[in-house]
Amino acid sequence: HFETVESTMNIAFSSGLKGESEGFIVCAETQTAGKGRMGRKWVSPKGKGVYFSILLKPCLPINELPKLTLLAAVSVCEAINSIIAPLKSNIKWPNDILVGKRKLAGILTELNAEMDRANFIVIGIGINVNSSLNMLPAGSTSMKIEVKKEFSRILVLQEVLYRLEDWYIKVNKEGFDGLIKEWKTLNSTIGKTIAFSDNNKVFKAKAIDIDEFGRLVLKTNNGRIIKKISGDVIQN
Ligand code: BTN
Repeated sequence: HFETVESTMNIAFSSGLKGESEGFIVCAETQTAGKGRMGRKWVSPKGKGVYFSILLKPCLPINELPKLTLLAAVSVCEAINSIIAPLKSNIKWPNDILVGKRKLAGILTELNAEMDRANFIVIGIGINVNSSLNMLPAGSTSMKIEVKKEFSRILVLQEVLYRLEDWYIKVNKEGFDGLIKEWKTLNSTIGKTIAFSDNNKVFKAKAIDIDEFGRLVLKTNNGRIIKKISGDVIQN
């Protein structure tokens, strides 16, 4: 646990390179260079959120690794829902946690791999717990903003870690079917007409499913089916 770091991702990643074992967790009160997906920043107001990275060494082929970010999204979404009930958060593909249309939490996965084998992955999770509106980028929210009370950040971290561990043990034993099913019940993307942004190209399509690799299945206006493993969904 650190007061201030650039990013918990960097510390977890370099610990992974030094041979740190699976389950190693780095958390911080604030980050000066918090990282988001697609080269974006993650704003980390001091003492107001849960910001941590966890090191995992999954025995999975590389094309199955994206499902671990779905696993993290399900764990975070369930944990938050257990705390803010009856309010509910939802998952925007692949792993943004929203309340309504505003972003409450984000997940970033970084991989250290050879051509065909992952050495380790680092999953970074940022949750806006007690942040106020003026501390956060536009379009964001926090648990406090939504429920109008403060929450224990330790409790939030605990609830997420319990679920991460449970789901991780479950998928290692039984595979990802149950997890993907749960992801589908929590998501707000499937069934919607969305704008998909990919390498600066934006196109409209209907999100119809996720496949067994966690890819988003899209149907374009001319009826073509395409599958995307990464990219950005802009949904209304
Ligand atoms: C996103 O939604 O774009 C992903 C955000 C991930 C933020 C977390 S906070 C803890 C960890 N350290 C980072 O620098 N990023 C992740």
